[in-house]
Amino acid sequence: MTIEPPPAVAAAPEIDRRRVAALIDDQKRRLAEHTPRSGEYYERASRVMPKGVPSSFQENDPWPVYVERGVGAQVWDVDGNEYIDFHNGFGVMCVGHANPTIAAAVKKRVDEGTHFAAPTEGSIVVAEELVRRFGLPQWRFTNSGTESTMDAVHVARGATGRDLILKIEGSYHGHHDSVMVSVYPPLEALGDRDDPRSVPYGAGYPRALTELTRAVPFNDADALERVLTKLEGQVAALIMEPAMMNINIVPPVEGYLARVRELTAAHGVVLVFDEVKTGATVSAGGATRRFGVKPDVVTLAKATCGGLPGGAIGMTAELAAVIADGTVHQYGTFNGNPLVMAAARATLTEVLDDAAYDRLEQANAKLLRGCDEIIERHALPCYTEGLGAKGCVVFASERLREYRDYLTKVDDDLSTLAWLYHMNHGIFMTPGVEEEWTLSIAHTDEHLDRYLGAFEAFARDVMGT
Ligand SMILES: Cc1ncc(COP(=O)(O)O)c(C=O)c1O
Repeated sequence: MTIEPPPAVAAAPEIDRRRVAALIDDQKRRLAEHTPRSGEYYERASRVMPKGVPSSFQENDPWPVYVERGVGAQVWDVDGNEYIDFHNGFGVMCVGHANPTIAAAVKKRVDEGTHFAAPTEGSIVVAEELVRRFGLPQWRFTNSGTESTMDAVHVARGATGRDLILKIEGSYHGHHDSVMVSVYPPLEALGDRDDPRSVPYGAGYPRALTELTRAVPFNDADALERVLTKLEGQVAALIMEPAMMNINIVPPVEGYLARVRELTAAHGVVLVFDEVKTGATVSAGGATRRFGVKPDVVTLAKATCGGLPGGAIGMTAELAAVIADGTVHQYGTFNGNPLVMAAARATLTEVLDDAAYDRLEQANAKLLRGCDEIIERHALPCYTEGLGAKGCVVFASERLREYRDYLTKVDDDLSTLAWLYHMNHGIFMTPGVEEEWTLSIAHTDEHLDRYLGAFEAFARDVMGT
């Protein structure tokens, strides 16, 4: 697929910083005022969970909004506030909440037994469907994206007999030791583009392991080539998101992925596409199909299993052989769990069919267009980016090409304020500066209009227009 050259971004107009700071304070107060029960839950939860949340990604200021239930594109918090969900469980719920087809499949499985740690037919059907979608012949199952990328690293090291892993700076691939490196490093810690440092993401990872992972910049095949040449014969794998999705969305530039494919093949390096975010959301065959470049390994999780916790790893026959012959141990009591497989099967073979992907694409195009119109009308210093079911407004006056741009060009205050406006206008959005929205098949035009209404209110107040 060819990627159109991006339109230019409007030159940055002056933003009244005092106004922005006052709006942030005001919107934070409003959020706290209409979520008092979440505040109580937070206090209670903090007594038994660090930060009052099951995963640190769920924390928020002044407290996380605790959710009670969801149906279709709607969710309700514990204070009874209704929101249209654009967060969608960090990009999982493309099928919509409480989807009746998924629910029926899961309920049926509950009545037939939910766990045997022996293979069931469900895993065969799901693996067959993943072969069809991604064109890789062999699959194994996991319980999360973290496990999928961890297994990918093991397979690559086991197959090549090499220890070093390359990743892209500013990318997140889960929280195992080999990839908690150069995730969100500060600018001053980055080092030279051709020789970036290995920066641990927090404590708890042995230095010796961190140093086995090196990061290269995204969208720079020349830098990759120089690093591969310097490390000739030592690199087991390059793990990368084909389109970066944890620093807003940064798509690959024309020809980049094809060149990465050529270079990794030429240097005997296993190419892993981490499609945990893109896999079931940007096309039926993820970014692999969308961009037409085939990796050696694909890692999946999130939207693949329709809201149940599961993941998968796809690979070439050659790589699968190192699992089949016992060289690499790929294990897990819950791998291919029947309940998860029932949800994945219904998701992939009944709900997210080609028509569903067309609908998601069209809805996303409409939302992106609507945001573009608002940006233009109010001369906001930002632009939109989207792929499949996913999109975002990037609060930067120049298009991001890689993580170094993200660090130097994104306006954190405007990103934070936009999130607050969404939450206070009934739009449930991913917290943080780096995320994007994910649409589900349950999103209607009315839901998209609600999003645009919130964004328009934000634009008007920020620009004083
Ligand atoms: C690209 C990518 N890979 C891997 C992961 C880890 O997935 P999980 O949270 O299921 O462990 C994430 C999570 O956000 C991700 O965005």
